[in-house]
Amino acid sequence: MKRILIVLTGILVLTSCQTDKKTEKKLETVVPERTELSQDSKIFLGNRLFSEKTCITCHAIDREHKAPSVVDIMHVYKANNADIVSFLKGYAKPIVDTTASQVAIMQANIDGFLKQITDVELDAIATYMMHVDELSKK
Ligand code: HEC
Repeated sequence: MKRILIVLTGILVLTSCQTDKKTEKKLETVVPERTELSQDSKIFLGNRLFSEKTCITCHAIDREHKAPSVVDIMHVYKANNADIVSFLKGYAKPIVDTTASQVAIMQANIDGFLKQITDVELDAIATYMMHVDELSKK
């Protein structure tokens, strides 16, 4: 009987440790690679990713912080009919702030985690940035 109790307590302790670990794990949005998203879902997902991928720590919505604001970026991209996704994939050169030191900061992002992001997620981020810009005009 005693042995059974010890084993049971052991199992309880083990399982409670496991649940602790689960709750500690950082919540991250996972999106299957081929997902058809509505415009609203893209904006919602893009908004989440913009904080999760730390874009928001440098890019404020409508004021210059450490980097150009989303509104300023969209202004330049729309005027030039340019594609944010191409830039984020490293296919297109920067057109907003071409100061070497600033470009290097953003380039470090592109070289890092942005390589591990899916097309669906990049598209969502671009859609969100466009949406924020349109909202700021209302
Ligand atoms: C550590 C700060 C930092 C973070 C984090 C950051 N950026 Fe930037 N970003 C910059 C700076 C500085 C520039 C200005 C240089 C430039 O225009 O390339 C910039 C420029 C840009 C541009 C304009 C590029 C152009 O054509 O000139 C886009 C678009 C952009 N960032 C998107 C993002 C997105 C999306 C994320 C998150 C996935 C992100 N950034 C995260 C600092 C950052």
